Amino acid sequence: MIAPIPEFGFKNRVISRVLIDEKTIAARLEILAGQITAFYEGKPLTVVAVLNGSLLFAADLLRRVPLPLRLDCLSVASYHGGMQSSGVVTFLQNHLPELRGRHVLLLDDILDTGQTLHTVRERLLAEAHPASLRIAVLLRKRKVLPPGLGRVEADWVGFEIEDEFVVGYGLDYEGEYRNYPFIGVLEK
Ligand code: IMP
Ligand code: MG
Repeated sequence: MIAPIPEFGFKNRVISRVLIDEKTIAARLEILAGQITAFYEGKPLTVVAVLNGSLLFAADLLRRVPLPLRLDCLSVASYHGGMQSSGVVTFLQNHLPELRGRHVLLLDDILDTGQTLHTVRERLLAEAHPASLRIAVLLRKRKVLPPGLGRVEADWVGFEIEDEFVVGYGLDYEGEYRNYPFIGVLEK
């Protein structure tokens, strides 16, 4: 059962459990932001947020990174509803950000199979020629993957979670729940 969350009342019945609450997220972002700031100090940094999932993560993380950075967004879809990765990553815009000579930090909500970030990274490296490209994700699922999948590793990870379907704080189920301020487990 879920604890009462005043802003959301008791309407969120399908959330069976709060996995990571707001305060825990904020405390972890503080640490990640410190590491990222130290790492990119003095480098021309462009953050590329992968939408829609990383919207809240990016907004809260970057407010804690006091560097003269640029921010770009990429819209991709890797899920077409449901709870399984489709394996197909669709870029929802034709133009890539201008990244030549820039140190790029890709932000995404979650590393599941890693195919989304693998595809995005390969395309940016091949077509946008950044000086470097690193990855920060809010969540990483602990899971064993079949060999042969295009997989990437993240350079910064907010939280390691079990292989279960989560929503909130940017993550959706069929387009909804992204606005929840915590990360919760969706009831089966
Ligand atoms: P991957 O390509 O399998 O790593 O999947 C990454 C994308 O799938 C993420 O950016 C999310 O949009 C979505 N995704 C994966 N796991 C979850 C989850 O537990 N909840 C919500 N979305 C998820
Ligand atoms: Mg997503």
